[in-house]
Amino acid sequence: MDIVLSGIRSTGRLHIGNYFGALKNFVKMQHENQCYFFIADYHSLTTHPTPADLHESVKQVLAEYLACGIDPELATVFLQSDLPEVSELYLLLNMNAYVGELERTTSFKDKVRLQPDNVNAGLLTYPVLMAADIIIHKATKVPVGKDQEQNLEMTRKFAKRFNHMYKVDYFPEPTAYNFGERLVKIPGLDGSGKMGKSEGNAVYLTDDPKTIRKKVMKAVTDSGPTKQNQELSEPIQNLFDLMQAVSGTETIDYFKDRYNNCTIRYGDLKKQLAEDMVRFTTPFLEKFENIYSDSAYLRKVVNEGAEKARLSASKTLKDVREIIGFKAF
Ligand code: TRP
Repeated sequence: MDIVLSGIRSTGRLHIGNYFGALKNFVKMQHENQCYFFIADYHSLTTHPTPADLHESVKQVLAEYLACGIDPELATVFLQSDLPEVSELYLLLNMNAYVGELERTTSFKDKVRLQPDNVNAGLLTYPVLMAADIIIHKATKVPVGKDQEQNLEMTRKFAKRFNHMYKVDYFPEPTAYNFGERLVKIPGLDGSGKMGKSEGNAVYLTDDPKTIRKKVMKAVTDSGPTKQNQELSEPIQNLFDLMQAVSGTETIDYFKDRYNNCTIRYGDLKKQLAEDMVRFTTPFLEKFENIYSDSAYLRKVVNEGAEKARLSASKTLKDVREIIGFKAF
């Protein structure tokens, strides 16, 4: 079985883009692979959450993972901060990570631009911590989006560098596992680009029906088709892409036909899209609320997950310390 590992930073509620782009596939993968799914709460510290917010966000994402169908009986579900081994490996990997290469990563350069007042060393070494997350379990497949590919390239670099430096064949090189063509595209509601937490264009898995209807009805459109079979503008294509995720083919065909013969009313399209989204999120929301309020269950999941994850993590750390040359007196 392949070792699969992925994590999500606990920095807010998950949206339907996270579901279709990541979680839905995690759920599928847990049956055929040895999966580790974790919550990257150390990584969330780069944006300085308050203690109360830190815990709240972790609990939120944990309950969302479980409500989406990640099964702690099949996959190892854990919190990054429950594995002190990760921070030790991070320290060791940092000795062979060069400031120049870290400064050149796109995500770091983006952060410098977006938050010039908080360019902390944690941001700079973010890819090192991510590498530690992955190679500590010797994962080979990492389901992540396109935006994480450079980080994964860094992980391979650090793994190879370690092997080379100590003349061992210890860490395997992980590859990004994105589902290629089969992945539906989830754009935002603002007419362009993909759905994102920070973009203000998202429908959250835990939004209530009223909120969803309001958001969808406000989605950007255009002034309507003026000739038969006209090409779709980006905002309209986006609405159809969203339908692709939550509506049936008959519904999509119905509105496509109306678009093609210029009789479409965008208000009707949006109303239908909103209803289909509500139909999709309602069972999720119910499950989420039950799980979220079940503290005993959440405690059991993280405790058992930490215990399982620490088996492979402590084994790796023991080997790595030996390889590096730490010896008992
Ligand atoms: N950097 C990832 C993100 O922002 C989260 C993450 C942290 C991660 N460690 C990881 C993803 C290890 C995959 C594997 O989405």
